[in-house]
Amino acid sequence: VLGWFYVFPAYRLPSDKEIVEEVLGLGEAWKKNQTGIDLYRSVPECCNPRWMFAVTKENAPIGKVLWYDGEYYYSHTVNNETYSVFVQTTPLKPLKKCAVVGNGGILRHSKCGRDIDQADFVMRCNLPPLTKEYLEDVGNKTHLVTANPSIIEKRFQGLLWSRKAFVDYLKAYGSSFIYMPAFSMKPGTDPSLRAYYAVTDSHSNLTMLFANPDFLRNVGKFWKARGVHAKRLSTGLFLVSLALGMCDEVTVYGFWPFSIGLDGQPISHHYYDNILPGKWFHAMPEEFVQLWHLHKSGTLRVKVGSCQ
Ligand code: CDP
Repeated sequence: VLGWFYVFPAYRLPSDKEIVEEVLGLGEAWKKNQTGIDLYRSVPECCNPRWMFAVTKENAPIGKVLWYDGEYYYSHTVNNETYSVFVQTTPLKPLKKCAVVGNGGILRHSKCGRDIDQADFVMRCNLPPLTKEYLEDVGNKTHLVTANPSIIEKRFQGLLWSRKAFVDYLKAYGSSFIYMPAFSMKPGTDPSLRAYYAVTDSHSNLTMLFANPDFLRNVGKFWKARGVHAKRLSTGLFLVSLALGMCDEVTVYGFWPFSIGLDGQPISHHYYDNILPGKWFHAMPEEFVQLWHLHKSGTLRVKVGSCQ
């Protein structure tokens, strides 16, 4: 009798070296596969991100209970105050070419800036630095950027004192959407609202959007069913999921949670520093394996290495 191992060999995450070999082995060839994209979109958990991804006055009217997706048993009931900060309806139209930019060190010296900036819609994670020294590698165009409430707390003193440094810092993102998970963890709601008021009071061209916890929860379920075993997905994977449901063509850059680059040399964790994440790091390689499957099936394109 054949053991189960013959049918389902024990799953093992490839080593960093094996991943490099696999990526190099496949080379640059890539072909979009509409069937793969349609298949992704046919999964109920996936969709409908365009309408679901943010809380709006339409999908979260007064009295609606928003269950925090990162906590058990906490909810927020939409009231006059929170309702007034939500956008009316979904601000996104169906999109053509989207670039999702992770913060991986693989972007350093990639010269991918022009490629990225050529996309119709560019999404970035966690208010990354877009200063001159990185321009060639990561570009500077931004249509949507995520901001974690913890960044507001740590980098901008919770906006309890000066808001100027925050508002000035955001100028790098032009008139994009700032997407905050305000209803994921309870302590994140207040700083998110403070960020909203800092932005709105400064008459900037930015638009604050709050992530819809139902959307984040659905995306979590979707990837869990596909073998990503993390307490929480990385920010980047949320954005990839949003892009896949909304864009004709998705290319992802800066997703490479490994210790070596394609040349076998050590690589930093971020394109701007080498501060490793805490307890959630272990999920990123699993996430990459899933992205790589989608790359191979033509559903999205994973760009690693140089863009020249
Ligand atoms: O806050 P988090 O650790 O999720 O993200 P980050 O370090 O600011 O990077 C943004 C995103 O880029 C992550 O959520 C990952 O999806 C991706 N990333 C990656 O794939 N490989 C890296 N070495 C670093 C980030």
